[in-house]
Amino acid sequence: MIATLSTPGAVGFTNLPPLALYIHIPWCVRKCPYCDFNSHAAGPELPEDAYVTALLDDLDQELVAAQGRPISSIFFGGGTPSLFSANALGRLLRGVEQRIPFAPEIEITLEANPGTFEQDKFKAYRQTGINRLSIGVQSFQPAKLEALGRIHNGDEAVRAAGMARAAGFDNFNMDLMHGLPDQSLDDALGDLRQAIDLGPTHLSWYQLTVEPNTVFWNQPPELPEDDILWDIQEAGQALMAEHGFRQYEVSAYAQADRAARHNLNYWRFGDFIGIGAGAHGKLTFADGRILRTWKTRLPKDYLNLAKPFKAGEKLLPVDELPFEFLMNALRLTEGVEAELFTQRTGLPLEQLREARHAAEQKGLLQVEPDRLVATPRGQLFLNDLLQYFLT
Ligand SMILES: C[S@@+](CC[C@H](N)C(=O)[O-])C[C@H]1O[C@@H](n2cnc3c(N)ncnc32)[C@H](O)[C@@H]1O
Ligand code: SF4
Repeated sequence: MIATLSTPGAVGFTNLPPLALYIHIPWCVRKCPYCDFNSHAAGPELPEDAYVTALLDDLDQELVAAQGRPISSIFFGGGTPSLFSANALGRLLRGVEQRIPFAPEIEITLEANPGTFEQDKFKAYRQTGINRLSIGVQSFQPAKLEALGRIHNGDEAVRAAGMARAAGFDNFNMDLMHGLPDQSLDDALGDLRQAIDLGPTHLSWYQLTVEPNTVFWNQPPELPEDDILWDIQEAGQALMAEHGFRQYEVSAYAQADRAARHNLNYWRFGDFIGIGAGAHGKLTFADGRILRTWKTRLPKDYLNLAKPFKAGEKLLPVDELPFEFLMNALRLTEGVEAELFTQRTGLPLEQLREARHAAEQKGLLQVEPDRLVATPRGQLFLNDLLQYFLT
């Protein structure tokens, strides 16, 4: 809610957005050739204890940003967080809770890679309070897993789902990729069917992209033709819908009431503190400032006590707020209620009027006064749609 609107662009908030916490664990067994995340091959010894201590020190420096809000969700992302022991993650969670209270229904997700855990570890994770897993499967097919440089085979991915359930995780996601080297429509649907059979509550289904600074960028694999990619997309969506997975974001599909609350908070332009090597944050202050922050990327620098955790921060200029807000909100299949724009940016909705009209005329934005939502065409050409909101 806007409290004041004194000079243009100088606004204040009486209600701050919900607050989430992202915790980055930057190590993996080895680096996958397609991956541009801040992840680094782990040496023989993981500096778990030192890293947990650093994370809590990092959080101490962010406490002022919480401004009395509880944490509504926590996401351990990577890298491969499941390389860490339950003891280390438990100590971390208790330390976090001592610093910022948890909301009663807090969602706590851990990214887990097949090949880096066994049954007891999953049970121990569950006992720390982690209540959601995101299992990085990518594919079940040996040739595809090999092409992706994964450390696990399809059987381990299948077993991971069984272990998750046996450990008491009734809410788990599986990450799958499609558009893989030499992948046919049948291959892609086969992966999806196998995943669906394992009973996840959520599927993240990403089309493989070849990113700069990866092995694939320098040695590009042969990827399926555009018409095969299109067929995979259409048939995959239909198959998931048939099994009750509703698409709610570009790559996210969930059973009823099982959308990822942590990710929804990003897309609804909520706040999040980011701790850990390379972690990003977004924070709103009552005086109207909205700040993006990022941390030192390299684990050895992050662990170096002589260096600050924070590598930079940027105050979001008021004229960039509409684009920043919509870049997130319009990823959601059902968009957002129009009034959320004002609640999150402090700007009047009126400010979007002309751009909305132009985008509606082009069939990219739905004509819905009370919602901001892309048409199916707008979702397909999201970048074109967003251009209307650039200043
Ligand atoms: C933070 S990443 C990695 C999580 C976990 N370490 C793993 O590998 O399973 C989250 C997900 O992004 C997806 N991803 C990573 N690189 C990608 C790329 N180049 N193209 C498409 N999806 C990608 C993968 O599905 C991956 O599981
Ligand atoms: S395991 Fe995940 S985070 Fe690590 S390199 Fe592979 S894709 Fe990236």
